Amino acid sequence: MDRAAVASGERPGAKPPTPVPAHSRELSGSELYEVSCSACHGPKGGGVEGLVPPLAGNATLASGEPEYLIQTICNGVRAEESRTGAGMPPFNQKLSNGQIAALSTYVRDIAGNTDSPIEAENAACERRASTPGEE
Ligand code: HEC
Repeated sequence: MDRAAVASGERPGAKPPTPVPAHSRELSGSELYEVSCSACHGPKGGGVEGLVPPLAGNATLASGEPEYLIQTICNGVRAEESRTGAGMPPFNQKLSNGQIAALSTYVRDIAGNTDSPIEAENAACERRASTPGEE
């Protein structure tokens, strides 16, 4: 037994972990949901009784045009305007059209509408001209 190797914690053949660079690829809709939405709406979109509406199985979101869903993500909901008195932040400065499209597709999916994916050009937020990055 090589006591020096044991003491230093060396393991023969162990490779150093390969770091995964941040933003090396596009995040999927479910990953975007986990990062941006799950803290309030719940990991599975179940919401918080009386405070945050559920997204999973939400008939309003599943039916008709995705415009309401997209605009809610873009603009958020101010607490004083909200039904529950709890607010939701706007995401128009944080997410690109492509990310909002992927996210909306995922949310519509868990709401119960599995239509074809929402395209980025249909998920445009009005962004101020000073918005860094994409228009
Ligand atoms: C800080 C907490 C919070 C975060 C983060 C948040 N929301 Fe919300 N969201 C709310 C609240 C509170 C409401 C309900 C406001 C009201 O009472 O009308 C809401 C409402 C909604 C609605 C409307 C639901 C309906 O039945 O009318 C949608 C859609 C929605 N959120 C999607 C999202 C998505 C997608 C994300 C992630 C990008 C997100 N929310 C992030 C708190 C949050």
